[in-house]
Amino acid sequence: MTASATTRRLRLGVNIDHVATLRNARGGAMPDPVRAAKLAQAAGADGITLHLREDRRHIRDADLPAVQQAVDIPINLEMAATDEMGRIALAQKPHAICIVPERREERTTEGGLEVAGDEARLRDFIAPLAAAGSRVSLFVAPDEAQIEAAARVGARVVELHTGAYCDYCDAGDSAARDEELRRLFVAATLADELGLEVHAGHGLNFDNVGPIAAIPELVELNIGHFLIGEAVFIGLDRAIKEMRRLMDLARE
Ligand code: PXP
Repeated sequence: MTASATTRRLRLGVNIDHVATLRNARGGAMPDPVRAAKLAQAAGADGITLHLREDRRHIRDADLPAVQQAVDIPINLEMAATDEMGRIALAQKPHAICIVPERREERTTEGGLEVAGDEARLRDFIAPLAAAGSRVSLFVAPDEAQIEAAARVGARVVELHTGAYCDYCDAGDSAARDEELRRLFVAATLADELGLEVHAGHGLNFDNVGPIAAIPELVELNIGHFLIGEAVFIGLDRAIKEMRRLMDLARE
């Protein structure tokens, strides 16, 4: 860890899943996730994140190549470690792949990936994706055992799940929030020491992003639901620019 790391500009990946959620609510073509991806790029996003879920509840198969063609910034495909998703990822070769746990009944990705108990399968799953040129990340809780396992199975990145931290912020439980923040700091340090690039995301908004953005080892945040919701009121461009400003402020 270098002294200048804290001042290094954090990348912002904008997750456009929930533009597709709105589109799917009416079954038509609008609002168009491709348009959102272009707007996000113009507003300063460093990457576009999409989660192709098994049930296709938001992003659908055709959205991925359409977004890949429409923007020049890197695409980060979130997906479960299933044979079907492995085939799609190998065909589309996104810049980055973030492997997430997925249960049909959950509303969003509720917990981190169980890497430590599934090492052999994940190692076999990651190897061809990495060989095809995608940078593979694992979405994990800020837990030492999961991070050490992530380094062993060949991931280049860990994305730390900030959902619990955000829930404690919402609940006004400052003791639990501070303890979760401490876990995130420790996890980021460990991941960095193991040579993993460190990302974070889930549940971040204007009010809670500052302390996360200040974690020195972090290189990228992926933020979606709040930005798309806020866009309804102030527009996507302003929402992304304000998030960018708050992220930069936290690292001054
Ligand atoms: N990172 C990962 C791995 C995710 O699964 C999600 C949710 O799809 C996010 C970041 C973004 O979370 P949110 O939509 O709450 O900002």
